[in-house]
Amino acid sequence: MSLDQLEYILDHYKNPRNYGTLPDADVSYEEGNPSCGDVVRIDLKIEDNKVVDAKFSGQGCTISQASASILTEMIMGKSLEEIKEISKEDMLNALGIRISPIRFKCALLALKVLKSGLYGIKNWPGEEEER
Ligand code: FES
Repeated sequence: MSLDQLEYILDHYKNPRNYGTLPDADVSYEEGNPSCGDVVRIDLKIEDNKVVDAKFSGQGCTISQASASILTEMIMGKSLEEIKEISKEDMLNALGIRISPIRFKCALLALKVLKSGLYGIKNWPGEEEER
């Protein structure tokens, strides 16, 4: 892992993008990681089938909060169809650092919250392997 990549994550953790809540959100969903209690909430404003505003809040480890910050940037302006296509691999790649399998749950918490809130997707195939 290069220093630049690590700094990218730390920057998102220390200066989170799109942090907060949306009082008039169309979708608001929160979920925690039961193994550690860390929580991510995502609020979305949707117009014409597109995300026009996204905010996250929560508390937890560096990777869970940085990935939530990165994810809100990724989805801004995207259609719901495009968001549905975001895979676990896309999320891991967006972090830019190699995440060990033991931290997959941290890195994927925000994406899971997003997909649960938007589509009711709760369980992903193969998730058991990542524990
Ligand atoms: Fe809890 Fe990372 S240690 S989500």
